[in-house]
Amino acid sequence: MTYLSRRITFSSAHRYFQKKFSEAENKKIFGKCYNEHGHGHNYVLEMTVGGSVDPLSGMVINLVEVDQILKTVTDPLDHHHLNFDVPEFSKIVPTTENIAKYCFEKIKDLLPREVNLEKVRLYEAEDLWVDYNG
Ligand code: NI
Repeated sequence: MTYLSRRITFSSAHRYFQKKFSEAENKKIFGKCYNEHGHGHNYVLEMTVGGSVDPLSGMVINLVEVDQILKTVTDPLDHHHLNFDVPEFSKIVPTTENIAKYCFEKIKDLLPREVNLEKVRLYEAEDLWVDYNG
């Protein structure tokens, strides 16, 4: 098995808010992230795929295809407020954990069957990231 990883960046705004929590609970659990108008991050998304190296092309997957998939997945997030602009995050809190899972599932749907999505890593900041592998 050979693994290939690729990185893409995008910027989004979000707010942590759970309508099933009281005002006090939201403030206690989410702190500043509960502030009404949200705040932004420069996210770094890394994905790793595994597969066999094609003997003719010498590749696991064509990088052009990888970049198209990553752009397709991150375009709806980039320069958007996730809570308002991405239907999935009107129902679930757009934490790094949930965004990583969202990206994993969207990438997996677009990848050709012969390659396996091994892992997605999403950095919210240099010192905070989430790994998700399904
Ligand atoms: Ni945040």
